[in-house]
Amino acid sequence: MNRKWLLVARPEGLPKASDFLWVEEPLQPLEQGQVRVRIIYLSIDPASRIWMSHDSYVPAVPLGDTMRGGAIGVVEESSADGFQPGDKVQGVLGWQTHWTGEAALIRPLPKVDIPLGAHFGLLSHIGLTAYFGLLDIGAPKEGETLVVSAAAGAVGSLVGQIGKIKGCRVVGIAGSSEKCAWLTSELGFDAAINYKTEKVSAALKEHCPNGADIYFENTGGKILEAVLNRMNNFGRIPACGMIAGYNGLGAEPGPSNLFHIVSKRLKMQGFIVTDYLPRAKEAVADLVSWYKSGRIQYRLDVSEGLENAPSAVVRMLQGGNTGKAVVQVAPEP
Ligand SMILES: NC(=O)c1ccc[n+]([C@@H]2O[C@H](COP(=O)([O-])OP(=O)(O)OC[C@H]3O[C@@H](n4cnc5c(N)ncnc54)[C@H](OP(=O)(O)O)[C@@H]3O)[C@@H](O)[C@H]2O)c1
Repeated sequence: MNRKWLLVARPEGLPKASDFLWVEEPLQPLEQGQVRVRIIYLSIDPASRIWMSHDSYVPAVPLGDTMRGGAIGVVEESSADGFQPGDKVQGVLGWQTHWTGEAALIRPLPKVDIPLGAHFGLLSHIGLTAYFGLLDIGAPKEGETLVVSAAAGAVGSLVGQIGKIKGCRVVGIAGSSEKCAWLTSELGFDAAINYKTEKVSAALKEHCPNGADIYFENTGGKILEAVLNRMNNFGRIPACGMIAGYNGLGAEPGPSNLFHIVSKRLKMQGFIVTDYLPRAKEAVADLVSWYKSGRIQYRLDVSEGLENAPSAVVRMLQGGNTGKAVVQVAPEP
């Protein structure tokens, strides 16, 4: 049997149980050129909240379709050249226990000796986003100050650690004292600001005495506004995401101080990780080497069982995760 979640309503605000429908159906025999993958880890991403609602860089998930989601799994059956049972693969496999489809839609996991979960915690779309967003767009130089928001999440926690490797002073912004303590005591951030209990502007003044040269933007809204005030001339802002607005686009008012982009000659550039897929090998080589030499770490935040996928998304949107949120759909092989 395949078990899956369909998207059956467009959420208003936080997704709720009635926006999804649980379906169980028999697995069908493979057609020529198809592969069947048993999903092990399903990625829980902020972008899924956008995909539930409206078209953006990809179309919205049609109502009645299996909910879209990145996943890692193991090939169970194959009638396609190039894939054998037991191969570990990744792709946009959806919120289901088994994916069946054309071989061209999946990719083998990079052949590196790391735990299976690290392909989400350290590599895949998370590692590439952190690596290329910071290094390509942020262009850090030794001695500069880097500020990162959603800093204790999947992308942000890697960005800060890469910033330290590149010799920056790194200041994280996150939503709890436990998250802030993790950033400074375990990940080597120089300072962390709890945006829920501290005045972010005052805290940025204290922790960025020489201003901020790079702001890795994950949240938008009031945090963006506060950091813009602290940016130095010719600063760079890789615009990775703006999660503060995802539960209702436009709910979070735009910053009132965008003129800083002009007066301080800031460069703010958006990007989507898929832009960098042709260069994935560069990121994989560095991230794995830093991981093996103990210079970078990742953390998985695991919810057990596909039935918990909707609640895992809500938990992530509310800041319940530390590190990379995943659903473990089946045990590791
Ligand atoms: N451009 C791309 O290709 C790309 C690829 C991957 C991810 N992204 C973006 O990168 C960002 C981080 O993604 P991720 O996968 O690493 O997720 P994540 O940071 O692991 O999880 C999301 C975190 O966002 C924080 N958050 C939620 N609502 C917030 C709000 N209103 N204000 C401030 N923080 C809020 C929460 O932490 P707190 O407890 O700190 O609030 C939550 O844990 C997102 O904006 C995402 O869309 C972009």
